[in-house]
Amino acid sequence: MSVATDVRVRVEPSFAHWRELARAALASGMRPESIDFEDVTSPAPSDLFATAGDGTDALLATPRAETGQAYVPKAFLQKAMLAGCHRDPQRWNLLYRLLWRLQTSRDLLMVEVDNDVNELVRMDQQVRRDEHKMHAFVRFRRVEEEGGQEHFIAWYQPAHRILELAAPFFAERFAIMRWSILTPDGSVAWDPATKQLQYGPAVPRESAPDGDELEVLWKSYYGSIFNPARLNPGTMRGHMPVKYWGNLPEVELLPQLLQTAAARVQGMVETQKSKPSAAPFVPVLHTIGAIGEALPACKGCELYEHATQVVPGRGPQTANLLLVGEQPGDQEDRQGAPFVGPAGGVLRRALAEAGIHDEDVYMTNAVKHFKFVQRGKLRLHQNPRMSEITACKPWLLAELDALKPKLVLCLGASAAKSLLGGTFALMRDRGKVLSTPYADRVMATVHPSAVLRALDDGTRDTLYKHLRDDLLAAHKLAMQTV
Ligand code: URA
Repeated sequence: MSVATDVRVRVEPSFAHWRELARAALASGMRPESIDFEDVTSPAPSDLFATAGDGTDALLATPRAETGQAYVPKAFLQKAMLAGCHRDPQRWNLLYRLLWRLQTSRDLLMVEVDNDVNELVRMDQQVRRDEHKMHAFVRFRRVEEEGGQEHFIAWYQPAHRILELAAPFFAERFAIMRWSILTPDGSVAWDPATKQLQYGPAVPRESAPDGDELEVLWKSYYGSIFNPARLNPGTMRGHMPVKYWGNLPEVELLPQLLQTAAARVQGMVETQKSKPSAAPFVPVLHTIGAIGEALPACKGCELYEHATQVVPGRGPQTANLLLVGEQPGDQEDRQGAPFVGPAGGVLRRALAEAGIHDEDVYMTNAVKHFKFVQRGKLRLHQNPRMSEITACKPWLLAELDALKPKLVLCLGASAAKSLLGGTFALMRDRGKVLSTPYADRVMATVHPSAVLRALDDGTRDTLYKHLRDDLLAAHKLAMQTV
């Protein structure tokens, strides 16, 4: 038989709000049987409480002086904060019951056979598990906003209300990226400039539009990192329970950003169409063999027009360390292989001094064609523009997908811009291990040609040491994680 409840209080739902209400209820001596905590978002109040008044405001109006000192052990607080994220509508009542009982049974949490304690432990475990799943299964999609800024967006539906719990993990992991995670409970955005997480409104899945324009976006932006293995249900099941399939990039997941601004989507599609990109030339199957066969046909930007040939990556496919240079130089353009000219000489010396063998490294470039200006008989190297780096990026992403190196070391600013974004500052951030949606561990160091171009011996020595030491550190890390 159910017990009549005197007061019904509405929780936001957030742990902080429940705690405030619970403290006041405790101070007023309200027994757990006489109060019912209910989520504000829950549908109609149950019949059981139909006659109980909404006591939220009255409870909160309890004078501070009356709210005395409750006994709230740390162990309870930690578990209660997690249980508060659980979707069970009875969680607040359970927590209040435990809090109430703790005032007179201080060792209550040690009593494992107690039903309430048991329930608390169960919720705590389920929420933790859900948090781990979210960390593992959120899939970001890259969109390019007006002005060329990259934004990584994911839509995810956690089993419990864990957005705020899980978000700091992504802030740490993808600290240098601008990203948003949209969920039906709320959304969160990270701004790498301010290093702040900003929480926003919920994004129900069903309100996301379908549409050809998004299909176009998908093809343009993500086609290059598409992994056909994910289309194989057997493989997918092996990696992830079916209920998480909805978060894979192949399934229609649509960011609120796009949903709320159809016109903007159209604009993005148009801009993308007119932008140079290697994406249409990159094979769907990302193997080094398939990439090597497809590369010579690339006309993704204008650089192919003047170069002798495209220069593919080179090295053992089992290499743990991937070195990404800027673009082929004069010699590389003539010989069709990376780092065979003067900069390659510096690089080889640094690799040897760092004790790194050929079998440990694969070398490639952010841009696959030589960019130069002709001055008489000389062909003078020119830095690639950001648009050319971006156009060539699908090749680099395909190589990353094929090789799956343990660590990527970008040599110089152009390679760093390609993988770490246009705002990456080489001399400030060189040597740091960063995480990106493309590769878990990415570092950047000075380019060997910067050593060659140094104006004095002191600068040359310093730059060379940076290069060698960063190679050494990168190699050590790559080998550690094997
Ligand atoms: N510089 C690079 O960045 N890459 C090469 O392959 C050669 C020189």
